[in-house]
This record gives sequence, structure tokens and C-alpha cells, in this order.
Amino acid sequence: MIDLHCHLLPGVDDGAPTLAAALAMLRIAAADGASTMVTTPHQRHPAGYDVTPERAAAVLEELRAAAREAGLDIEIRLGAEIHFAEDLLVGLESGRLLPLSPGGRHVLLELPVTFLPPHLPEAIFELQTAGYRPVLAHPERNFELIARPAAARALREKGVLMQITAQSLTGAFGRASRKAARKLLTLGVVDVIASDAHNPDRRPPGLRAAVKAAAKIVGPARAEEMVTEGPALILADRVGPPGRTNVAGAGDVRG
Ligand SMILES: [Fe+2]
Repeated sequence: MIDLHCHLLPGVDDGAPTLAAALAMLRIAAADGASTMVTTPHQRHPAGYDVTPERAAAVLEELRAAAREAGLDIEIRLGAEIHFAEDLLVGLESGRLLPLSPGGRHVLLELPVTFLPPHLPEAIFELQTAGYRPVLAHPERNFELIARPAAARALREKGVLMQITAQSLTGAFGRASRKAARKLLTLGVVDVIASDAHNPDRRPPGLRAAVKAAAKIVGPARAEEMVTEGPALILADRVGPPGRTNVAGAGDVRG
């Protein structure tokens, strides 16, 4: 399994506070069956988290070395979770903001919790016109999308990919997020399930329980794709053109 969204880098945001915590998270992920973790530190976050690519790369190397020393057989890749901001395109083009894969075109985009920015459609269109493909982080936790799942479907139809969070499906973020996550699965707009893990205890890694919950709605094969082929295609920039039903779903065009 590939975990496309987590916060492993110690001390760069509200994720792993220490190297020991990051290693504990890797152990939990490995035991759950993950082979690859894409660590996605916050950038442009309103709370002030905005790691530079240089610092992220340096901390990643320390973590990789520690993981090797600890005998952990798990690949750690660097992406980012970019909070919605005015300068997304400039930041991506300059290299200050990081896509999900080095040099890649897929961008993990985080929205404000309570509302949808009014100019979101224009910003998405601008990114897509420049060749980027937004992947929306946890739409099931945005108040407006919880109230109007049809708005998520409209975004998906415009080619915005959707990542729901494992702990939403298993109920850790409350009933509203659980219900919204299930609704998005029912609507067929979910491409990826990821952990968005922040620490080893309250927000730990782990995808297996969520895949099991998703399987009851979309079937076991499709649920499994959301933690395997779905994220793999995103990392390889091999997702079909906008407007298709799912990243790895039937009828996708890949190329
Ligand atoms: Fe996150």
C-alpha cells in the first residue's frame, strides 16, 4: 500500500514532533502493510507552517537514514500539502511549493475547514491550464462540502481528484465527516484513501481498517485500488484526462 498523505518530518509542522515519533509512525505503517509513505508537510498553512523545499529535503534525509538504521523497510517520498493560497501557480513554477512527486504535476491541495474559497474554480482552472492536477485533501472535512456533496462531484467532474482520510471513514473525526466520506464513496468521486497521520497516538498511520470500511460501499477491489494503483498513478503522473470517473476506475484513459 501507498500512503499518499502524512506528516512524518519531525519538527517541520504539526506532524511528528520528534524523530522517535516519526520512527514510531513508520513502524505502525509498516505493520499495517504500507510499502511507501509520501510525507506531505504543510505549506502556506494559516497556522504558519510553510516548510521550504530545502529544509524538507534535509529533514527527509535524516529520517531516511534513521529508518535505515532502525531496519525499517519502507520507502519515504517527499511531497507537500499546500493550503489554498493566492500564489499557488507562482509558487509551483518557482519550485517553492512542492507537488506530490518531485517534478510531478499532481498537487495536494488543502482547503479552509469552514468554507470554499469563492474563487476556487478560477484557481483550479488556472492550475489545470498550466498543466497541474489538483488532488483535494480530505473534502469530507470541509463544512461546505459536508453540507453539499454535489459540490464535490462538480469539482470531480472538472478533473479535481479526491483524497479522503482513513480516520474519517473509521469515525475518528466525528459523525459528519464519516457520513460525508461515505457519501463521497457512494458518489464514486474518491480516488485515494490516505492516513493524513500526524503522530503515533491520536492521528496514527494505517489504511487497512478504512479500506475494509470502504469495501462495504465500493467493493473490495475498488477499495484496494484507492491505496495501491490510485496513488501509484498519481505519483507517476499517469492519471487519465479530467472528467473520468476515477483515477484507476474502469474506462480511464492512461497515458
Ligand atoms: Fe495533512
